[in-house]
Amino acid sequence: MSTLVSLGAQTQTQTQPLDKVGNLEPWVQLIATDTLAVTFLTGGAAKGTVFWRQGENEEWRTAAPETKDGLIVANGTIQRSFIKGFDPVKPIYIKPVSEPIKSFGAYNVSFAGAKEGKEIKIKAPMSRDGRIVLGVICDLHNQLPRLLPTLKAVGDDLSLCVLNGDICDAPGSTADLINYLATPMAALSKNGLMTLAVRGNHECRGAAARDIPDYLARPNDRYYGALTLGCARIVFLDTGEDKPKDHSEYSGLVDFDAYLQEEAEWLKKEVESAEWQTATWRVVFMHIPPRESPEEHSYPVTENGARIFAPCLIGKGVDLAVSGHEHKESFLSEEEAKKYNLDFPVLIGGGGSSFKTTDLAQRLEIAPGELYLPKENWRKTKQADQKQTSSSQSNQKSNDIWSKISDIWQIIEKNRQKQ
Ligand SMILES: [Fe+2]
Repeated sequence: MSTLVSLGAQTQTQTQPLDKVGNLEPWVQLIATDTLAVTFLTGGAAKGTVFWRQGENEEWRTAAPETKDGLIVANGTIQRSFIKGFDPVKPIYIKPVSEPIKSFGAYNVSFAGAKEGKEIKIKAPMSRDGRIVLGVICDLHNQLPRLLPTLKAVGDDLSLCVLNGDICDAPGSTADLINYLATPMAALSKNGLMTLAVRGNHECRGAAARDIPDYLARPNDRYYGALTLGCARIVFLDTGEDKPKDHSEYSGLVDFDAYLQEEAEWLKKEVESAEWQTATWRVVFMHIPPRESPEEHSYPVTENGARIFAPCLIGKGVDLAVSGHEHKESFLSEEEAKKYNLDFPVLIGGGGSSFKTTDLAQRLEIAPGELYLPKENWRKTKQADQKQTSSSQSNQKSNDIWSKISDIWQIIEKNRQKQ
């Protein structure tokens, strides 16, 4: 059982392997615009229900249960529901309820009586003035005691945590998935933070890698997606494995080619969408950085997601890409990124065991007028009318607002004609 403590406390998260499922508090993931997934575990076969509200005096509402092919997912130990249409500037109160199943007959299911879980309060992901404060962590590689202290080091005022891949290191069992994937997300939720999760290459490995979706909710059954939060369009990509599929490490059980191509096709549509085009800020999270860096590796760089996705992003107005994977923190300004033929800055987070806990996380502030990375002393500003953008480390660039509006109208018109 895990002992989870608040971000503000001096002590660290202490984890021990769970000997059985159950008793883990719910974890809350942001998976799409206005959609949260809430997952919790029960000690035996049950039907799980999630109630939610956005004010202490509001009536509880029932979240939509997960369904598969018309059946509500029940009679197992993993319970999931979806909260849709929440107001992102208000906190969300969540109460899980479990109804253990005594017998499951063809024409009658009997329940043992509802058990109410502990209520949790998740902070609003965005303040009323449109500000989003993200704590970004990558490459934790199972080092759970570092999770909360490293977030604490970047601020008490975070409104969202991005797990940017390789949080869990090659899960070999259900216990690994619970301890190193579910437990950190539950710890974040207990501390009031919802999670946006990105898959890293190490989460593609191990005997239990194929069971990750049981614990990690995903939009459209994919590890990639996009969402709008206030003024920001946030894209999260799955960059797959980092070596060719015929590498001996994979024993012939990996083939990302078709999957990444399908994802690239999706990404090409995303960067032409009205949501992308009209957002003030466009931020992309992707575990493997969108540059070729063979010098970083002792093996040939594969045709991985990074290499496939970079061409889809160039020239599309990306304001910032945030990656990890290299275990070496670095920041490519827009100017430096040109060496890799990229036209947007890239933050590569540090990770692995050699990093100081206090240096593992990054803070990213997104406000209507400014994108800010305090650790890198980098900011990019945009005027409210979006006519001009500027950056302390990048060239001034001006936008022709009328041509932009015209482009947007063309896209809207194209979409309308398709319908
Ligand atoms: Fe990695």
